[in-house]
Amino acid sequence: MSGQAQLALPGLAAEAAAEWVWSEETGEEIDVTAFVHETVMRAPVVSALAPGAGVYVDVTVGGGGHTEGILEAHPEARVIALDRDDVALAAAKERLAPFGDRVTFVKTPFGDVVSALAAAGLSEVDGLCADLGVSSPQLDDAARGMSFRREGPIDMRMDRSGGETALELVDRLSDDELADIIFHYGEEKRSRRIARSVKRALAEGQLVTTLDLRRAIVRAVGPVRVGGVDPATRTFQALRIAVNGELDQLETLLGALPRIIRVDGRVAILSFHSLEDRLVKRALHDRDVWEPLTKKPVVATEEEGAANPRARSAKLRSARRIVRIAASPWGAAPETSGIHRKVRDR
Ligand SMILES: C[S@@+](CC[C@H](N)C(=O)[O-])C[C@H]1O[C@@H](n2cnc3c(N)ncnc32)[C@H](O)[C@@H]1O
Repeated sequence: MSGQAQLALPGLAAEAAAEWVWSEETGEEIDVTAFVHETVMRAPVVSALAPGAGVYVDVTVGGGGHTEGILEAHPEARVIALDRDDVALAAAKERLAPFGDRVTFVKTPFGDVVSALAAAGLSEVDGLCADLGVSSPQLDDAARGMSFRREGPIDMRMDRSGGETALELVDRLSDDELADIIFHYGEEKRSRRIARSVKRALAEGQLVTTLDLRRAIVRAVGPVRVGGVDPATRTFQALRIAVNGELDQLETLLGALPRIIRVDGRVAILSFHSLEDRLVKRALHDRDVWEPLTKKPVVATEEEGAANPRARSAKLRSARRIVRIAASPWGAAPETSGIHRKVRDR
């Protein structure tokens, strides 16, 4: 068992017996028993997709909970399971092994979903689910640097095989650029003060770990929790969104939906903050393309929220792909009508 692999997932499910599997992607052993992610709104997501004998894509397979739900719901359902995180994929492969070749794993950012499906010989699918953001194991693993509660490198990448870390990003940006990111992605009003303090800490050699980053934030705005929320929460969220290009990824995915969901197919998207939810709401707004499955977004039950705090901020939006044929005095619109073309060419 490699020291590196142990470092990858510390502190999780310590009581569980470790089970190490070799990951070809990371070239290390990964303790998959440590990858414990409580799936949010599993039943509502699966029932929104209403799985049948078709192909579904789970663009954020993570620990595999939603994919497992789809595969269990119908014996002839197949899933293309995407994730950009090698550790998540290794854990999902292990958990979903009993389903054999009914599930195909692809390491890719979901912004590239069209090419991932094309590589699997598909242009359309019967349904798609997305459970946005990060998983509990990603947050809980100090070595990934996403949590201000655990000391680790200021990294924050979901895919550690490449790209800029949060520390490199902070170093590259000017004070103003950093403040803009904190303001827009963290919806943090005190962004300028925080950005200046973080850049000063970096210049003084005082910005090495996540706890240093939190200290620089607290130095700027004080230790007071606003509404019970740690003062570092918004800045950490902002940097994570920026490092992983989370909103760009989401916009690309949403733009591709009308092309990859077959008519009568369904989408179910779980978002965890207003920036994400706004984009999802706007994308599913076009009544020529989507018919919402519920009037309002579905939220977790009180019971689920009590058992899994992460579920409390979740919103599920789901819709069925339609082609609305314009009412015409001559009957149904012909195949080549403007509306049909508009939908088809999206
Ligand atoms: C909340 S978890 C999913 C949990 C999963 N639904 C389950 O039940 O176990 C989100 C997952 O999405 C992945 N992810 C986030 N953004 C991504 C992106 N742009 N492309 C691919 N995967 C992404 C993360 O790496 C993480 O594993």
